[in-house]
Amino acid sequence: MKKIVNGIFILASLLLLFPACYNDNEYDLYPFAGTECDSSNVTYSKSIAPIMAADCNVCHSAAIASSGFITDNYPDLSTLALNGMLWGGVNWDEGFSPMPKGGRKLSPCDLAKIKKWINQGAPNN
Ligand code: HEC
Repeated sequence: MKKIVNGIFILASLLLLFPACYNDNEYDLYPFAGTECDSSNVTYSKSIAPIMAADCNVCHSAAIASSGFITDNYPDLSTLALNGMLWGGVNWDEGFSPMPKGGRKLSPCDLAKIKKWINQGAPNN
């Protein structure tokens, strides 16, 4: 009888441990949760530049310019936007190096904003 009780105890402990191993987070489960993704008013200064500052400029500032690509100013970034390289990189399209290099793909929300901005002709707004 004691063995069975012990067994049940061990089993229950294991079950309690499992949720801790399940690596979920709000971002994976609800990429568009709440007001986090508002891609209705996409502008270069308010939407795109902050994404670049957070994920790209560390390697693509005018000073560092990894492989000659610059994302921290409008003229350079809009050129990459209009020649397809920006989208190819962030969307991990075949034939492009996945950006941010060595990092996690941008959130679906950030990608939606970038796509919208490019489709609008990458305006300086
Ligand atoms: C850790 C440094 C690093 C970060 C962060 C980074 N890049 Fe890059 N990027 C590179 C390097 C290095 C290359 C040259 C290609 C290679 O070596 O893979 C490159 C190439 C590119 C290219 C050329 C096209 C291609 O895909 O090869 C574009 C466009 C680009 N990066 C945009 C971005 C954008 C946009 C971000 C942010 C979402 C970003 N990069 C983040 C290092 C980085």
